Amino acid sequence: MPYPQLTWSTRKQLTRLGSALRGGVRPELEAVYQRIFDRDIERLGIGNDFYPVSSAANYSLMYLVSRLLQNFKFRQIVELGAGQTTLLIDAFKKKTIFDGSATTIEHDKNWKDFIQERVGHELKLVPLSSSHYVGGYDLTSLEISSKIDFLLIDGPPASGTGYLSRHSALPFVEQLNENGFVVVIDDAERRGESELAKRIADILHSKHIDFRVGDVLAAKRQTVFASGVFESAAFF
Ligand SMILES: C[S@@+](CC[C@H](N)C(=O)[O-])C[C@H]1O[C@@H](n2cnc3c(N)ncnc32)[C@H](O)[C@@H]1O
Repeated sequence: MPYPQLTWSTRKQLTRLGSALRGGVRPELEAVYQRIFDRDIERLGIGNDFYPVSSAANYSLMYLVSRLLQNFKFRQIVELGAGQTTLLIDAFKKKTIFDGSATTIEHDKNWKDFIQERVGHELKLVPLSSSHYVGGYDLTSLEISSKIDFLLIDGPPASGTGYLSRHSALPFVEQLNENGFVVVIDDAERRGESELAKRIADILHSKHIDFRVGDVLAAKRQTVFASGVFESAAFF
């Protein structure tokens, strides 16, 4: 355990500070992304009753999802971890700006039910299992039949010994649409998610798939993999 002589709360703060320094986050840009997000949502006539604070999506992730859905026609979205982004995808669907399919995976039944009552697309309750990654999703009984062209990785919670839990998303990389895809890894300033980004890059290289990588930086870092018809998303 690092810093055993410190209190739990000080260790947590130091760990966060370490991640932020390594990940190069730019919290001062949060207001910039909020401004763009608010402007776009108002222009599109979507009620702005989101709460992109605390453990939920931050404003740069909301901006990114909003811009992706405005710019591209996705046929199949798979979202890991329900919350503000799920509500946002639903709002775009109800305005018919997004007209593809979306599947959201959530491990917490109460949270899944809460969000499910508010959105039209299906949330799938998926348990956590530590058989591959501590606190990762157990995907054994989940089937996504179509190719995925937008994969958003923002769950399950990843902290402490479960810092690699989001590596349980790797099977979905095998299902990306070879004609074009976007993968967004949220919280990429953290060690586990940064290692996940490297593993995804390795898998894509091994399959000889051309792609670009970009980063959006504000309170958190979103790493974006973009390929084919969606390649320009790496510059968002
Ligand atoms: C980083 S959050 C998911 C964020 C989601 N993409 C969003 O936009 O808010 C990861 C997990 O935190 C939990 N979570 C997020 N917000 C919550 C809330 N308000 N209450 C309870 N659990 C929450 C859910 O289990 C979720 O899968």
